[in-house]
Amino acid sequence: MIEIVNVNRDWAIGKQGRLLIHIPADMRFFRETTRGKVCIMGSTTLESFPRMAPLKNRVNIVLIDDEQKIRRESLEAEAADRAAGFSTELIYVRTPSEAIKRAEVYPKDDVFVIGGASVYRLFLPYCDTCLVTHNDFPTDGADTFFPDLAASGEWRMTEQGAPQQFEGTTFRFCRYERVK
Ligand SMILES: NC(=O)c1ccc[n+]([C@@H]2O[C@H](COP(=O)([O-])OP(=O)(O)OC[C@H]3O[C@@H](n4cnc5c(N)ncnc54)[C@H](OP(=O)(O)O)[C@@H]3O)[C@@H](O)[C@H]2O)c1
Repeated sequence: MIEIVNVNRDWAIGKQGRLLIHIPADMRFFRETTRGKVCIMGSTTLESFPRMAPLKNRVNIVLIDDEQKIRRESLEAEAADRAAGFSTELIYVRTPSEAIKRAEVYPKDDVFVIGGASVYRLFLPYCDTCLVTHNDFPTDGADTFFPDLAASGEWRMTEQGAPQQFEGTTFRFCRYERVK
């Protein structure tokens, strides 16, 4: 499994249920990397998507503790996608082990953990690679964070892309591999 995340210098990832910053090039990278693949996420992350729709042409495995929170909008969006010929799949699971069971029938490099904070933490021990987009957007008001891989001693940055700019924010695409 691979975690894919956008973090700032403090490893902040979100604010009030939303991303800290939307960087179009990063969105594009996310779409291209996960297209046709399996994405494991928490229910809050699914709810943060436009119309609460699962990601098109991906297997969306969504952790949900309280089944009452299953959203009609998400199920309808999945049905509409499938009727239109897309291969969108929405699977709700109650436990991390059920998510792993549903994901393990796919090649492990095709399974992406896409957030949010609670789900990144749950699945990090099962991952050897993290695709991290670093940005320097301010932390002000951020309420969700990714574990600091650099400080953990368990991860090493193996690739660091060139710095790029979006509306005054500098970002770069990086890759971390587990060392222990
Ligand atoms: N920067 C990035 O790359 C990035 C990526 C993704 C998300 N985010 C941000 O992260 C934030 C959301 O993170 P979050 O931690 O608040 O929410 P989350 O991880 O997306 O979802 C949390 C929910 O997942 C379910 N869940 C989590 N652990 C579970 C378990 N062990 N068993 C069963 N269900 C479980 C629960 O659903 P129920 O309570 O509904 O039952 C829980 O409330 C948002 O701000 C989002 O924009 C950032």
